Amino acid sequence: MNHDKVEKNINLMAILIVIVISIGGLVEIIPLMASSDATEPYEGIKPYPPLRLAGRDIYVREGCYLCHSQQIRPFRSETERYGPYSVAGEFVYDRPFQFGSKRTGPDLARVGKRYSDEWHRIHLLGPRDVVPESNMPAYVWLEHAMLDGDLITRKLRALQILGDPYTDEDIAGAAAAVEGKTELDALIAYLQDLGTVRSAR
Ligand code: HEC
Repeated sequence: MNHDKVEKNINLMAILIVIVISIGGLVEIIPLMASSDATEPYEGIKPYPPLRLAGRDIYVREGCYLCHSQQIRPFRSETERYGPYSVAGEFVYDRPFQFGSKRTGPDLARVGKRYSDEWHRIHLLGPRDVVPESNMPAYVWLEHAMLDGDLITRKLRALQILGDPYTDEDIAGAAAAVEGKTELDALIAYLQDLGTVRSAR
């Protein structure tokens, strides 16, 4: 009888649907907010130093995430190929995270230290010079673009306001850390440290 009433009254039905969905949502969301696994940095994970932070922004600007994921799933086929699977605490300083959703190229979550800086330099300027069948674009302009010390200082300050534990000394030294460096240097520095904290353990 009661069920008849719900089925015939669209407003009542809508209200009840909202209640049911809200409970379902809260059951998923609240434990995640309370869980330190998702909010605390994985042991050894630190906020990005200035050069790597600049490199990360170039990675985002150039759309590398459109072809590369940065998340290794806990399946044997993935861990055998890429290394230890990704955990949430590795990404607490990623704003926004670079999980990606498509693998035209390989996952990059543990690419740090896999190749030399020189390999990356040649590969980014001309992927087919090292991998003849590659369809990755060449990023030749990165070699000539210089980093802006003032911009990176402001970025660190903004992240400090958002709660990333940068000290005032970190911020004061940011411009000097990118002085004379190119966008290519920054991107390589970013790649060379990807995933190294967890893969070293
Ligand atoms: C159109 C898709 C595409 C885009 C965009 C792209 N890549 Fe790639 N990438 C590939 C493919 C395919 C490979 C595998 C062949 C090769 O090594 O070149 C690859 C390989 C790589 C590798 C070597 C990974 C390994 O484990 O061997 C790195 C590092 C890399 N890309 C970095 C980048 C960066 C940084 C950017 C952005 C500046 C980028 N890629 C943009 C397709 C892409």
